[in-house]
Amino acid sequence: MSRKMIVGATLYLVIGVLMGMGMSMTENYTLSPVHAHINLLGWVSMALGGILYHLFPNAAKSRLGKWHFWLHMIGIPLMMAGLASLLLTENSSFVPLVSVGGVMVVAGAVLLMINAAKHMR
Ligand code: HEM
Ligand code: HEM
Repeated sequence: MSRKMIVGATLYLVIGVLMGMGMSMTENYTLSPVHAHINLLGWVSMALGGILYHLFPNAAKSRLGKWHFWLHMIGIPLMMAGLASLLLTENSSFVPLVSVGGVMVVAGAVLLMINAAKHMR
């Protein structure tokens, strides 16, 4: 689980910094919140999760860890795709996509909290 989280995190890092470069080159900052959250939720939060699972193997073995990983790996792209579409089109029909992705990300964070309380000793 630790390895999976860290590989996932580096994928978000590459996407996030490429976006940052794209925004700088085109001087178009419309997608700045998407860039910020791909880096902060995808790279920083997932990498921290991966390091925690390496430090606490019992938490990594728990099903809570698996659920945390998948909720973030599915929730972050949904939330970010929805937010990017919303910012580019200003069409509010993308709000449910942002909401579903956002709720999945929050649920993943709650599972990490429960896993920490139970298995990170
Ligand atoms: C090559 C790497 C990167 C480039 C070229 C880059 C570029 C940018 C640019 C052009 C903006 C928009 C600034 C504006 O709206 O005035 C921005 C915003 C931001 N970036 Fe990056 N970025 C990079 C990496 C990162 C990383 C690794 C993180 C976090 C771990 C990050 C976090 C943020 C945040 C939080 C904002 C929003 C700041 C705000 O709204 O005040 N960036 N970045
Ligand atoms: C489900 C999780 C999250 C949601 C729904 C969320 C939502 C938001 C919203 C609505 C804003 C205001 C954007 C704007 O005014 O343009 C924001 C800004 C920000 N958030 Fe988050 N956030 C989440 C997670 C995080 C995490 C985990 C971090 C840091 C590790 C973070 C760091 C920031 C920063 C630095 C800003 C200011 C940068 C900007 O305006 O683009 N957020 N967030």
